[in-house]
Amino acid sequence: MKPVCVLGNGQLGRMLRQAGEPLGIAVYPVGLDAEPEALPIQQSVITAEIERWPETALTRELALHSAFVNRDIFPLLADRLTQKQLLDRLGLATAPWQLLIAADRWPQVFAKLGELAIVKRRTGGYDGRGQWRLRADETDTLPADCYGECIVEQGINFSGEVSLVGARGHHGQTVFYPLTHNLHQDGILRTSVALPQPDSALQQQAEQMLGAIMQELNYVGVMAMECFVVPQGLLINELAPRVHNSGHWTQNGASISQFELHLRAILDLPLPQPVVSTPSAMVNLIGTAVNPQWLSEPLVHLHWYEKEVRAGRKVGHLNLNDPDGQRIAAALEALVPMLPPEYASGIAWAQAKLG
Ligand SMILES: Nc1ncnc2c1ncn2[C@@H]1O[C@H](COP(=O)(O)OP(=O)(O)O)[C@@H](O)[C@H]1O
Ligand SMILES: [Mg+2]
Repeated sequence: MKPVCVLGNGQLGRMLRQAGEPLGIAVYPVGLDAEPEALPIQQSVITAEIERWPETALTRELALHSAFVNRDIFPLLADRLTQKQLLDRLGLATAPWQLLIAADRWPQVFAKLGELAIVKRRTGGYDGRGQWRLRADETDTLPADCYGECIVEQGINFSGEVSLVGARGHHGQTVFYPLTHNLHQDGILRTSVALPQPDSALQQQAEQMLGAIMQELNYVGVMAMECFVVPQGLLINELAPRVHNSGHWTQNGASISQFELHLRAILDLPLPQPVVSTPSAMVNLIGTAVNPQWLSEPLVHLHWYEKEVRAGRKVGHLNLNDPDGQRIAAALEALVPMLPPEYASGIAWAQAKLG
């Protein structure tokens, strides 16, 4: 099996490495300042766990590598302007939007998009950072450097958020997991729930959308699509050309995890439909120190990233899965007193989805 070099050495690279190990696939997550000489770059397939990167000795070398899978797709999707243009070109439903050109355009923006505007930096935002929710009387709170560098979207009054994680192989075949239900608070994913029998109309719509996107881009590997659920169906929120936080439940709740699926796809290994036969829940650990007591719950799989704990930072996650959703709900209940109080509402939301 060919080795894999991953641009970026955060938790996603770490979990790709973990997924490769039992298959005998050596995965090297590499920081951007790594020395190219220390890596088996020439023999490797190259992928990334981040969407954009600065020019360094390493990234310059990788950018020229013929086995850098999806290289030219990263910049297209890393810029929300070109990402939205792609969705429009394919005629896929997305939150109405426009480029935010200048402060004198605000009256026209609100006339077109309605009373709540969501401003997002074209590049570099994540976990709700680089994003502002504005009403017409609040626009002067926006930093001046946003104009030209942001898009503005209609604030969507959604009934829920879901994501679809899927993969496309070198020969164009696609596979998908069941939709994941996601709860975000302050722009950051707190809790996810996946059920083996998703709503079939939404699942079909989502697969058709993500399938069309991956096909158009000639994409290879795992891609994630975040959506809002509205009365008409799904609106695409954003795309990520990589493994995704909302797919972490697949580590313990699917026969093939999203990390293994990505490695299989980019290495041109068999890509059967992953089997999902039980409900799953995932609780993100955000700015919370590790607590060994979590392990007293037998359904809990702790995934700890060994990062320094800082407020607002993703430092791990808990996966729970069981054939009986009620047992997951009960285990989540037992976790509540072992977690800071801000976890309670996300856990109650997950219990309701499992109910
Ligand atoms: N147009 C919108 N209307 C309503 N809520 C939104 C909108 N855009 C984003 N949000 C909320 O903010 C969250 C983060 O926004 P997103 O565009 O996914 O950025 P990030 O890259 O930080 O994940 C979303 O999951 C959703 O909860
Ligand atoms: Mg998002």
